[in-house]
Amino acid sequence: MRTPIIAGNWKMHNTMEQGTKLVKDLAALVKDAKATVVVCAPYTALQAATKAASGTNVHVGAQNVHWEEKGAFTGEISVPMLQEIGVEYVVIGHSERREYFGETDETVNKRVKAAIAGGIVPIMCCGESLETREAGTTNEFVGAQVEAGLAGLTAEQVSNLVIAYEPIWAIGTGKTATSDQANEVCAFIRGVVAKDFGKDAADKVRIQYGGSVKPATIAELMGKSDIDGALVGGASLKAEDFSQIVKF
Ligand code: G3H
Repeated sequence: MRTPIIAGNWKMHNTMEQGTKLVKDLAALVKDAKATVVVCAPYTALQAATKAASGTNVHVGAQNVHWEEKGAFTGEISVPMLQEIGVEYVVIGHSERREYFGETDETVNKRVKAAIAGGIVPIMCCGESLETREAGTTNEFVGAQVEAGLAGLTAEQVSNLVIAYEPIWAIGTGKTATSDQANEVCAFIRGVVAKDFGKDAADKVRIQYGGSVKPATIAELMGKSDIDGALVGGASLKAEDFSQIVKF
C-alpha cells in the first residue's frame, strides 16, 4: 500500500548544465517507473533541475532548508525560496550535515516542521556510526534521533513524510548493510512511529534505506517488509545506474 520512493542525493555534485542533462537523461529512462522518483540537487542547480523535470515523472528535492522564512541568516535558504522554484522534497538531517555542519536533533526538528508547514515533504535522515553499531546500541540511538526529529508533529504529518535510515558506516564506503540489517532497523523505526503516532501513521510513513545502494543491491532491499525505497548518493550521479535502481 506504500508507494516506493527512490531519491538521489547528488550532494555537492552537478552544475546547472550537468544537472539539466542528468535530469533529462534520467526522465527518458524512468517514464514507466512505479516508484516515486526524486533528485535532490544542490541549491544552485535546483531551478535548472525543476525546469528539466517539468512534465516528467521526476520530482526535485533540496538537500537542506532553514526553519525561518527570512532574516539575517547568511548562507541559508528558506522554505518560500524553495517553493518559488517548485521544489517538492527536502533532505533534512543527513549525517554529513550532522557531522560537518553542526546539525542537531533540535535543528532537524525545526527544519522538518518548517518544511511541512510550507508543503515540502521532508526526507528526514537518521543512522548510527560504526562505533554505535558495535556497541550494540543502534536501536536506542536511531530511535532517539527519530523521536527528536518528529517531536511535536501530528500523526497525519508523520504519515506523509519520508524517513531515511542511513547507517553512517555504509555511506560512500561500498559497504551496504545487509538487507536483513537494513530491514531490522527500518522495522524498528516503524515501531517507534507506531508507539508515538499510532498504527495508521506507521503503516503510511515511507522509510528508505541509504548507504552504498547500487543497481545490484536494490532488488533485495526492496523485497524486505519495511524498506519502502532508497536514498542514493554516488549511484544517483549516472542516469543509467540510477534508472536501474528506480526500476529495481
Ligand atoms: O544520501 C545518500 C547517502 O548518503 C548514501 O550515499 O549511496 O554514496 O553511499 P552513497
